[in-house]
Amino acid sequence: MATPRRPIIAGNWKMFKTTQEATAFVEALWQKVQSRATAELPEIVVCPPFTALSTVKQQVEKLGAPFIVAAQTMESRDNGAYTGEISPLMLADLGIRWVVLGHSERRQYFNETDETVTAKTLAALKHGMTPIVCVGEELQERENGLTDAVIEQQIRAVCSQLQTSDLPKIVIAYEPVWAIGTGKVCEAAEANRVCALIRHFVGEYGPAEQTRILYGGSVKADNTQALMSQSDIDGGLVGGASLEAESFFGIIQHASPVTA
Ligand code: 13P
Repeated sequence: MATPRRPIIAGNWKMFKTTQEATAFVEALWQKVQSRATAELPEIVVCPPFTALSTVKQQVEKLGAPFIVAAQTMESRDNGAYTGEISPLMLADLGIRWVVLGHSERRQYFNETDETVTAKTLAALKHGMTPIVCVGEELQERENGLTDAVIEQQIRAVCSQLQTSDLPKIVIAYEPVWAIGTGKVCEAAEANRVCALIRHFVGEYGPAEQTRILYGGSVKADNTQALMSQSDIDGGLVGGASLEAESFFGIIQHASPVTA
């Protein structure tokens, strides 16, 4: 029998938190999480801004907290004349093993394309990192009935370039752009339909049963259970509600493998 997919709750802090705010958050979250056995918890990922990555990573190790520390983006190349960019080697240097790639804000404001997201995904895998690859349609695309076609293109662009053995190693986040930061969560059944569609497309390139697929877009404690109980949603990528330990822990509790 296939092993069940362990849920993931990832907090994407975006461009928020100084190092001091970041360490206060980690300490507060650790206070709450400590009372739980690891088997009761989803995998917990925090994605601080670059400036806080090193501090948070060291703090998590010192506390012995079961938190994965991830970067929010990275450059695909190892080094070179790319002012301001951060490479996979530099993240590895800090002990960072996970990275969010192709977030819609990167696509929208920093010109990331399916091509660059694919290059970054390949770079992450080359360096033994776990990429969380983000896909999702914009409001107009949904209104024009293009959701499935947009998702298909974004998934095929990446998966067609990967080795079959890489498919279980990647994490995919379905984040409908219209649901991000708007308070308009995608209805659970519809989010699940799209996540199942994603699994179907991944499956055309190799085994997709172990690939974890997250939903993101206005995830809060009170809608987590409905989303997580769906067959093809394996966790959440959380923005606003991941900034406070209280609200993030509320989501973690509703996503625990035992209550799911
Ligand atoms: P919100 O949870 O604030 O809608 O953000 C979602 C997101 O973009 C996570 O990457």
